[in-house]
Amino acid sequence: MKIILANPRGFCAGVNMAIDVVDQVLKLKGAPVYVFHEIVHNKHVVEDFQSRGVTFVNEIDEVPEGAVIVYSAHGISPAVRQSSKARNLVEIDATCPLVTKVHLEVLKFAKDGYSIVFIGHRNHDEAVGTVGEAPGQIFVVEDEEEVERLNLPNADRVAYVTQTTLSVNDANRMIAALKRKFPHIKAPAKEDICYATTNRQNAVTALSADAEVVLVVGSKNSSNSQRLVDTARQIGKAGYLIDDAKQLDPAWLKDAGGVFITAGASAPERLVQELIERLQQEFGGVVETRTLVDEDVTFAPPKTLRSLAVVA
Ligand code: F3S
Repeated sequence: MKIILANPRGFCAGVNMAIDVVDQVLKLKGAPVYVFHEIVHNKHVVEDFQSRGVTFVNEIDEVPEGAVIVYSAHGISPAVRQSSKARNLVEIDATCPLVTKVHLEVLKFAKDGYSIVFIGHRNHDEAVGTVGEAPGQIFVVEDEEEVERLNLPNADRVAYVTQTTLSVNDANRMIAALKRKFPHIKAPAKEDICYATTNRQNAVTALSADAEVVLVVGSKNSSNSQRLVDTARQIGKAGYLIDDAKQLDPAWLKDAGGVFITAGASAPERLVQELIERLQQEFGGVVETRTLVDEDVTFAPPKTLRSLAVVA
């Protein structure tokens, strides 16, 4: 069987930075360390940190007064910052700069009096954080039907932004629907779907031609990983999302001549390698890496971490 390995795959610059931040805080302050929401949406990353003394919380009042709180890569709403300040927490912000960019767009549109449409998944941590920047002025749509049902207070002055990890195709369809409904709608100055999401989806489309099955390593609550499975299915492949090699069902590959492997932006490379080992042991075959584009994006650690390092 042909085993095709996608490049790029796995960790993006935002995830690398966020994981590094928690590592550094553990090193500087020692356990316990508190993180608001999962630092990134990956079961293995979260369990590893938990075993090293990290507590993930969903409410700020679960954190003891004066402790260090790390904000996850998905970002937070201003209300969360206020709650942290009220408890005198030391805030370390590991929000991905590409998520922060969308927050800043929302703030700008809100200040300029726009009704803002947020294209995304309303219960996702990133959506909750972004929407919290302009409560009452921002409206979430998840699909084209919701676009049709939109009834905005200021229909002549409308702008849109998107979640960073959407399906590029789905987002384009929804943007087209918004433009039909609001012909003067204002777009963000620069695409909100991030480079990592776009590259990983494009790699599935461009590089998986001779594979019948696409395996995506990632967790169920990882939006960008789910979208990789959607991308595979949209081009007629059998797409499966697995947390690790143990979740592989050999029946999926019974009649396959080729399998394409990729990983969501929060999935560690170790899990990809373990999957390849299992595939080679059970099905044989050679591994071929196919590259769509080389990524060289990196993000500096947040200033708040640097100040913690100085104090420590
Ligand atoms: Fe940031 Fe995109 Fe990764 S928004 S966290 S670079 S998936």
